[in-house]
Amino acid sequence: MKIRINEHFGSIKESYLFSDIARRVGAYSAAHPEQKIIRLGIGDVTLPLTPSVIAAMHRAVDEMAAADSFRGYAPEAGYDFLRQAIAGYYRRMGVSLRPEEIFVSDGAKSDIGNFVDILGDNEILIPDPVYPVYVDSNLMSGRRVTYLEADARNGFLPMPTGLPERAYVIYLCSPNNPTGAVYSAAQLGEWIAFAQRTGSLILFDSAYESYISGDYPHSVYAVPGARECVVEFCSLSKTAGFTGTRCGWTVLPQELEAGGMKLGSLWLRRQSTKFNGVPYVVQRAAEAAVSPQGHAEAMEHVGYYMENARILADFLQEKNIWFTGGKNSPYLWLRCPGEMGSWEFFDYLLEHAQIVGTPGEGFGKCGEGYFRLTAFGRREATVEAVARLRNLL
Ligand code: MLT
Repeated sequence: MKIRINEHFGSIKESYLFSDIARRVGAYSAAHPEQKIIRLGIGDVTLPLTPSVIAAMHRAVDEMAAADSFRGYAPEAGYDFLRQAIAGYYRRMGVSLRPEEIFVSDGAKSDIGNFVDILGDNEILIPDPVYPVYVDSNLMSGRRVTYLEADARNGFLPMPTGLPERAYVIYLCSPNNPTGAVYSAAQLGEWIAFAQRTGSLILFDSAYESYISGDYPHSVYAVPGARECVVEFCSLSKTAGFTGTRCGWTVLPQELEAGGMKLGSLWLRRQSTKFNGVPYVVQRAAEAAVSPQGHAEAMEHVGYYMENARILADFLQEKNIWFTGGKNSPYLWLRCPGEMGSWEFFDYLLEHAQIVGTPGEGFGKCGEGYFRLTAFGRREATVEAVARLRNLL
């Protein structure tokens, strides 16, 4: 063909990190069909949806079966009942949002990836290591990315100190994927002050907020000033087990304005053009998930995963393997033993213990020499993984 393609795809890796891992694991599994592989790589949940969520879905399915309660296209930004319920969820954490500031979607990954559509050619600041979607979606659109280096010295929490004072689009994720590091309210306050001084916009990913057990903000809007300069992305994937059900939301407070336009209006314009809303059944499920009862049930699952995190953390401590995370996050971020490189350690674990993790390098240059394990496995699998690791390391 003689058409031109988006040449910016040439500046990203050939395949997405987790697709690459799935391909390698698939090849190993095909060559060794007798081996039982334990998957602690991609952060995918393993517990089923909770009773409140399932009951709400069943009710909604029955509604869809009757002519007078059947629903067609959903509103692009979500049904009012769900936007109200999410506002109620925030209210219970002490944050006041108007339902019309909440835009429901099929998950934080799509929203974060799609958000690039409404922004112009800004300088982008992205921590390294980081969830690859932030970087790839910007590179695909030809944006200039500057990396904020994160390492053990800054606790994997880069701060704005020393940055040239100009306007940026800044991505932050707390609790962090992949490192599990969490920003305190004071640290987020410094980022917000920087954004206000420089006219920058912060894109804040709070997908792991329900794993926080310490004294850290669950929403960036708990920190004064955030409404003027922060967009928050959240998701039910990790909180309520919606990785396959798909529902999340993006918060755009009314105060957010640039180029004489409200960012909320731009986002609605983008969504109504390219997105037809989340299925009714899923939105009823999400409404149940953020209700006090649904949330209490979800927190039992969070507790189960955090017990897995403790089991993995105890093992790493016993072996004197340096790690962080696993306290306010379902991820443990460890230094590869024996100075191994992160892909080298990936191959070593797969080959000798049939355990899949995620190589730190997949999250950026600063992740080289590190490795991520997830606590989202089943208990038996996590315990078995520790037994295999104890034999190997
Ligand atoms: C991860 O493993 O980093 C996540 O599951 C990926 C995602 O949320 O898309």
